[in-house]
Amino acid sequence: MSTLLMFLYCYIGLSLIFAEGAQTVPNDELSTLLSIKAGLVDPTDGLKDWKMPRSAAVEGSPQCNWTGVLCNSRGLVQKLDISNMNISGRVSDHIQGLTSLFVLNISCNAFATSLPKSLSNLTSLSIIDVSDNYFVGEFPTGLGRASGLTSVNASSNNFSGFLPEDLGNATSLESLDFRGSYFEGSVPTSYKNLQKLKFLGLSGNNLTGNLPRELGQLASLETIILGYNEFVGEIPAEFGNLTNLQYLDLAVGSLSGQIPPALVRLRKLTTVYLYKNNFTGKIPPEIGSISSLVYLDLSDNQISGEIPAELGALTNLQLLNLMCNRLTGSVPTKLGDLIKLATLELWKNSLTGPLPMNLGKNSPLQWLDVSSNSLSGDIPPGLCDSGNLTKLILFNNSFSGSIPLGLSTCMSLVRVRMQNNLISGTIPVGLGTLPSLQRLELAKNNLTGQIPQDIALSTSLAFIDVSSNQIESSLPSSILSIPNLQTFMASNNNLQGKLPDQFQDCPSLSVLDISKQSFLWKHSGEYSFL
Ligand SMILES: *[C@@H]1O[C@H](CO)[C@@H](O)[C@H](O)[C@H]1NC(C)=O
Ligand SMILES: *[C@@H]1O[C@H](CO)[C@@H](O)[C@H](O)[C@H]1NC(C)=O
Ligand SMILES: *[C@@H]1O[C@H](CO)[C@@H](O)[C@H](O)[C@H]1NC(C)=O
Ligand SMILES: *[C@@H]1O[C@H](CO)[C@@H](O)[C@H](O)[C@H]1NC(C)=O
Ligand SMILES: *[C@@H]1O[C@H](CO)[C@@H](O)[C@H](O)[C@H]1NC(C)=O
Ligand SMILES: *[C@@H]1O[C@H](CO)[C@@H](O)[C@H](O)[C@H]1NC(C)=O
Ligand SMILES: *[C@@H]1O[C@H](CO)[C@@H](O)[C@H](O)[C@H]1NC(C)=O
Ligand SMILES: *[C@@H]1O[C@H](CO)[C@@H](O)[C@H](O)[C@H]1NC(C)=O
Ligand SMILES: *[C@@H]1O[C@H](CO)[C@@H](O)[C@H](O)[C@H]1NC(C)=O
Ligand SMILES: *[C@@H]1O[C@H](CO)[C@@H](O)[C@H](O)[C@H]1NC(C)=O
Ligand SMILES: *[C@@H]1O[C@H](CO)[C@@H](O)[C@H](O)[C@H]1NC(C)=O
Ligand SMILES: *[C@@H]1O[C@H](CO)[C@@H](O)[C@H](O)[C@H]1NC(C)=O
Repeated sequence: MSTLLMFLYCYIGLSLIFAEGAQTVPNDELSTLLSIKAGLVDPTDGLKDWKMPRSAAVEGSPQCNWTGVLCNSRGLVQKLDISNMNISGRVSDHIQGLTSLFVLNISCNAFATSLPKSLSNLTSLSIIDVSDNYFVGEFPTGLGRASGLTSVNASSNNFSGFLPEDLGNATSLESLDFRGSYFEGSVPTSYKNLQKLKFLGLSGNNLTGNLPRELGQLASLETIILGYNEFVGEIPAEFGNLTNLQYLDLAVGSLSGQIPPALVRLRKLTTVYLYKNNFTGKIPPEIGSISSLVYLDLSDNQISGEIPAELGALTNLQLLNLMCNRLTGSVPTKLGDLIKLATLELWKNSLTGPLPMNLGKNSPLQWLDVSSNSLSGDIPPGLCDSGNLTKLILFNNSFSGSIPLGLSTCMSLVRVRMQNNLISGTIPVGLGTLPSLQRLELAKNNLTGQIPQDIALSTSLAFIDVSSNQIESSLPSSILSIPNLQTFMASNNNLQGKLPDQFQDCPSLSVLDISKQSFLWKHSGEYSFL
């Protein structure tokens, strides 16, 4: 056959297909779309151009110009995107008439009905996004037959019932998001077949049972978010096979047992959230070799033993949260060398000894909370060297020495809570000039000297507690007129001299306690007992 003949042959063949298509299928799709519209409540009339054309003999595919409709070259609806239009009502069974549908996006609407079972006949679907609605009932089964399905987003709905098991047959899936509904039962083991899956989000449902060890076979998985469910049992050691995993979120559940050392095989992990479970045992020192880690949160468990010094090797770590566990021993000195550390929360454990003296010197430290331990020694001097410190929370420990001078020039500070320690020396001059400082809690220490005059100049302080120290001499005369001051407590000190006279100009003050001084107050020339 010559090239010319071949060309003609193909041309005629194609023409035939086009002619056929133009006369039949698109018109069916026009009425399908109108049937779909009939089931919808469209308060903003966003679909006003979805209407039967005036001329009786419909030519071409006018529906391909309609809002949210995109057709393929053959005039068949390929994409339907009516997201974010406040639409409610019902998704019609007629939708199965859109046999070439590749993308369906009805997210961010107000649907509060159930999805039609006939959705499962849309086997051409590649992407389905029904997220952010109030869909109820079961998620339809049958989409497992859509061999080209790559993405399902059903997050933020009111779905209930079991997760669709047959989706394990949709082996092209790369993303499966069922977060935030009321799904119950366990995770179907059939999902192990999803060898292309990168994202699995099932958090915030009512899922129960053990985490299936089969999920360890999801070789492409990068993100797994299973938290806020009712899973029990241990993290399967098989999760150590998820070598592409970057994001592991199992927070808030009833998981128990030890953190499996097998996780150390996950060399790409950036985020590990295991907080608020029932994990016991020690922190595996091997975690210190996952150098990709950025966020490590093991808080609110029953983890015991010491903080492994190996964590000091996690040079990318920005957040380390181990609060509310049963940790003992000292805080590894090497944590002070982590150059990216911004958040260190170790509160409510049984830690002893000093903090690393170089903490904050090498990193943009923002939040430090080590309260309610048995820590001692000096407060590290460089906590605000980078100028990022906002929260400094040291209360209920045995810190001694004086308040580091560096804090009095730390412009970022918002909260300083150091009560109930053995801190001595004077309150440094300058805290009153910090523009964001709201809380200054220094009660129950061994502070001496005066309250610096600049405290009275603060425009931000709302809460000052210096009670139960050995502070002497008079109060700064205008201290009670700090514009935002709500609480001023200075009882149990050695204050004397004149009581400030401006009770009238304390715009916000609601608590004032300056009782129990070892001297008498002189107020407007007279002595008063407070
Ligand atoms: C779509 O609209 C444009 C103009 O708005 C028109 O030229 C075109 O013919 C329409 N196409 C169909 C298939 O109706
Ligand atoms: C669906 O539409 C929403 C809102 O318009 C958009 O944010 C989202 O990315 C779309 N989903 C997909 C899978 O493209
Ligand atoms: C959707 O409805 C809400 C309130 O019902 C309204 O605030 C919002 O502007 C509406 N959005 C659109 C796109 O019409
Ligand atoms: C969806 O769930 C929310 C929260 O539980 C509830 O307030 C709302 O009434 C539910 N809507 C429907 C349609 O079930
Ligand atoms: C899917 O399509 C077939 C053939 O048209 C039909 O018999 C069946 O009822 C449809 N399935 C659903 C769930 O609607
Ligand atoms: C699913 O949709 C929600 C909002 O509609 C979005 O926040 C989320 O990122 C989407 N999931 C995936 C995996 O893209
Ligand atoms: C998956 O596909 C196989 C083969 O077609 C079929 O036998 C099986 O029932 C399907 N699984 C589910 C859960 O639908
Ligand atoms: C589902 O979980 C929510 C939130 O955790 C909880 O309030 C609700 O009682 C649970 N429902 C069932 C049926 O277990
Ligand atoms: C997965 O992990 C388990 C336990 O760690 C191991 O026995 C198994 O050989 C691994 N499987 C694969 C396919 O790597
Ligand atoms: C956690 O474990 C303790 C005992 O070790 C048990 O009393 C408690 O019920 C468990 N909590 C959960 C949420 O499983
Ligand atoms: C630390 O503070 C500096 C200067 O204010 C700022 O440029 C930087 O982004 C901050 N770093 C972090 C991690 O917040
Ligand atoms: C408190 O300070 C006083 C005077 O400086 C000193 O005598 C005393 O030993 C200190 N008490 C504690 C518990 O540090």
